[in-house]
Amino acid sequence: MCGITGYIGDNKTTDILIDGLKRLEYRGYDSCGIAVVDAKNELYLRRVSGRVDALDKLVAGDPAKGPKSGVGHTRWATHGAPSEDNAHPHTDCTGRVVVVHNGIIENYLDLKEKLQAGGHKFKSETDTEVIAHLMEEKLKSLHVQEKAVRAEMLEPVFFEAFRRTVAELKGSFALSMVWASCPAMLLAARMHSPLVIGLGKGENFIASDVSAFLKFTKRVVFLNDGEMAAVRKDGVDYYDFKGKKTSKDAVTIQWDSTMAEKGGYKHFMLKEIHEQAESVENTLRGRLLPLGGDILKAETGLTTASMKGFAALQFVACGTAYHACLVGRFLFENFGIPAHADVASEFTDRAKLMHKDTLVVAISQSGETADTLFAVREAKAAGARVLAITNTVGSTLTREADYVLHTHCGPEIGVASTKAFLGQLAAIYLLAGHFAAARGILSSTEARRYAEDLLKVPRLIEETLAGEKEIAKVAEAFAASEHFLFISRHINYPIALEGALKIKEISYVHAEGYAAGEMKHGPIAIIYKGMPLLAVAPTGRALELMAGNVEEAKARGADVVAIVDAASRKTVKANRYIVLPDAPELFTPLLTVIPLQIFAYYVALAKKCDIDKPRNLAKSVTVR
Ligand code: M6R
Repeated sequence: MCGITGYIGDNKTTDILIDGLKRLEYRGYDSCGIAVVDAKNELYLRRVSGRVDALDKLVAGDPAKGPKSGVGHTRWATHGAPSEDNAHPHTDCTGRVVVVHNGIIENYLDLKEKLQAGGHKFKSETDTEVIAHLMEEKLKSLHVQEKAVRAEMLEPVFFEAFRRTVAELKGSFALSMVWASCPAMLLAARMHSPLVIGLGKGENFIASDVSAFLKFTKRVVFLNDGEMAAVRKDGVDYYDFKGKKTSKDAVTIQWDSTMAEKGGYKHFMLKEIHEQAESVENTLRGRLLPLGGDILKAETGLTTASMKGFAALQFVACGTAYHACLVGRFLFENFGIPAHADVASEFTDRAKLMHKDTLVVAISQSGETADTLFAVREAKAAGARVLAITNTVGSTLTREADYVLHTHCGPEIGVASTKAFLGQLAAIYLLAGHFAAARGILSSTEARRYAEDLLKVPRLIEETLAGEKEIAKVAEAFAASEHFLFISRHINYPIALEGALKIKEISYVHAEGYAAGEMKHGPIAIIYKGMPLLAVAPTGRALELMAGNVEEAKARGADVVAIVDAASRKTVKANRYIVLPDAPELFTPLLTVIPLQIFAYYVALAKKCDIDKPRNLAKSVTVR
């Protein structure tokens, strides 16, 4: 989500931190900053709203004097819009404790209230800033007299205060901390967010991933969840969260720096496909239990009362985000809540029919898609209220919507949307669960079961991803095909559309997604011998009909790849199978789309297409 760098040693600290941030910009690029402790143990903090190049210029015009340690951060906003005030590093009230953070502190509102009641003054809207103030409290509670002792004698106090701070944090975090009074030690901790230590000679590094420091060292130690590190220039000590020392082995990385940015994957698209369990987990985290309570109120503005009050939902979006809308429509209708879905560019007349009892749900990864923004403005003019589901904090869509639900997927670099789609689906399932529970459609027992099943999805996504090699083989078998059909029904019908869109975008071949029931009304005529047809057929209400559609397609020569689970495989008589783990019927789109993404990726790879930057396309479409 964000990029962290840390350095301690005798080389050019600011240059090393900024160089590392440039290499981590793919993780986030809305604001950035560094904090270093200079030769006089004073803090030098510089932050900008925007890219690392701007920070570089600022620092070059006014360099720090003799810095020996420091941290840097490039941000992808989750709490608080992109701005200089919200940029990391963040400091406490003394301005000497500094933190950079990647992740989400779930209990930050509780902590912030307590700290404010104790007199702490906050300067940003971020969740991260609580960590600096909490640290200040812990240092105070250890009765430290910074000026009375030598800096190195403060190290045990710094560590203990850090340990106590970390113990109070809930959520996901990779942290690195500097205390200007104790500049010979940097501290780091990890829980559900990556953090790696680079081991140099007379210098050491901290980073979100190895690409930040690979040109200085290839010897690294990966922190695990629940581990902390005390990093000095001549050595690193590792601890668990109770403060017990642990030993860790270093490994030598063979990647070059471009491979490292992509986490060793050949393309961002493949990396992002593999980040989907995390996207879902991050989007659900802290927002699901209890369903139907007012848990979304503080963050989104949506209350239980408002969820009860809307007469209908109207989803609007473009491209992949529109396919998420269609899943939303099926899901809400399944609960008996009226819902429609339209592509934003075809919404004009229907927009005029919106009124104050309609909740328009606008979905956009970027939050800047022109057609989606136009649709939102028209719907608002007609009196509707608008909920934005977006991955981009501070985007135009968030500023124009009445309610905002962020997906927490981190930046998506590949033009073909993958992890953002899964984040959008997770947000929709979250929302539908809250609506259904608030309206009494799900009893408390059913709501609990729904939430428990949804929380299992990230693990099922991991299991699905484990099938990558098998899916790649199937894709390679069809790499020369010029036409592809994708079919499904009900809540997986949008997944057939998405499968076809993915392959069109990155392989430039003709592909169509159809509601399977429509095949006999025309499209079946185009089937020829050997034509690849991908049928999404998990266990559920549509299975028998899907099995029939597969038979009909096969009888006309289609080479059918069925996306099934162990049970539905027995019913569907296809030529080839991709078998997914079992999941409750309603949640299957969160899994069935994954083999289609992988399939599209490997077809494009075999065709040697420019997968991350397909021809004629842009990541964000800001004109109509
Ligand atoms: O940023 P948005 O989610 O609003 O973008 C919408 C579409 O342009 C986008 O989903 C597009 O279809 C993707 N390239 C699909 O992979």
